[in-house]
Amino acid sequence: MEILRSIVVLIHLVGFATIFGAWIVEAVGKRRVTRLMHWGLAIALVAGLALSAPWGLAHDLNYMKIGIKLVVLILIGGLLGAGAARERKSGAVPAGIFWAIGGLTLLNAGLAVIWR
Ligand code: HEM
Repeated sequence: MEILRSIVVLIHLVGFATIFGAWIVEAVGKRRVTRLMHWGLAIALVAGLALSAPWGLAHDLNYMKIGIKLVVLILIGGLLGAGAARERKSGAVPAGIFWAIGGLTLLNAGLAVIWR
């Protein structure tokens, strides 16, 4: 059970690496919203929800933190959608939307590792 949960944590981290890595590539490139960012977010969401289930852990889960991470993830999803729509219309993602996507992604990773 513990090994299975560790594998789900690894998948969750792959989701984080995918969205943040794709964002870094764009931050030093054309500053677009890409499909990889959407995929990374979807992977992080599915694995995050699975990790939030009671796994018979010795320690309690911090549901306040998990709830905030879920809200932040929904915000990131909204920004990805809005950014992609604006890009289709005007050819560019507004700077505020682009930087907020990376900032909020980093915020969620920070919440995960700093707030125990
Ligand atoms: C962009 C979105 C997200 C990012 C960047 C992110 C990042 C991370 C990272 C880096 C960890 C590993 C922390 C560690 O084990 O030290 C983690 C763990 C975890 N995340 Fe996320 N996460 C995100 C979204 C979510 C969502 C939406 C949920 C749940 C609804 C969630 C639930 C969890 C849980 C339950 C753990 C394991 C905590 C534990 O074992 O104590 N995450 N997350």
